[in-house]
Amino acid sequence: MIIALLNQKGGVGKTTLALNLAGEWARHGRRVTLIDADPQGSALDWSQQRAREGLDRTFGVIGLARDTLHREAPELARDVDHIVIDGPPRVAALMRSALLAADLVLIPVQPSPLDGWASAEMLALLTEARIYRPELTARFVLNRCGARTVLARETAETLADHDPPVLTATVGQRVAFAVAAQSGRLVSELDDDTPATREIAALTRAIDALGVGRAP
Ligand SMILES: Nc1ncnc2c1ncn2[C@@H]1O[C@H](COP(=O)(O)OP(=O)(O)OP(=O)(O)O)[C@@H](O)[C@H]1O
Ligand SMILES: [Mg+2]
Repeated sequence: MIIALLNQKGGVGKTTLALNLAGEWARHGRRVTLIDADPQGSALDWSQQRAREGLDRTFGVIGLARDTLHREAPELARDVDHIVIDGPPRVAALMRSALLAADLVLIPVQPSPLDGWASAEMLALLTEARIYRPELTARFVLNRCGARTVLARETAETLADHDPPVLTATVGQRVAFAVAAQSGRLVSELDDDTPATREIAALTRAIDALGVGRAP
């Protein structure tokens, strides 16, 4: 399955979720490659930091911030179980290419009602991609949910029939994500029984349950 984390908004958690989802699948024996499709190269920086810390490589990270991504990704996907694409903010051409490559698009958003979840341009690109790829699945993922998580969960349920729908598995505002990233780690490598680790595990299960990219 090719999963792309996309949102033109910056700082919503695309890289954080891409790395931790890739790591969680790898921890369960799946072969995973992460494509850093962001010219900023944050996932590659994380990988470099990880190497400096002398930590094992549990999944490969490759830089491919080109709008030929949709041509390369299916080839790369042949050798692994999952390709996770960490998308760029803003760059529409790269976003379009990632949308053409993906089986599943996850759009991380902060669950504030004041926060226009995704830009109109992003949703227009998604509609456009579906013309070519009617089977393309898309979901919002509520990230950085505050202490009023119950409220966030209600929001997720209320919005479950939105288009794109919202995954009911949400991720809280957890300092562990930033702490882990600084040392090239994943939240599960700090402690495998924290809210952040459990939320990532639940998120992978919710994604697996969608059954995207599975042979009919
Ligand atoms: N659930 C979370 N709890 C706490 N901090 C978070 C969470 N998710 C992301 N962050 C922090 O928010 C910041 C932005 O996250 P991240 O880099 O993943 O966003 P992004 O969408 O990839 O940004 P960009 O658009 O610049 O690529 C980082 O410092 C990250 O550690
Ligand atoms: Mg990023």
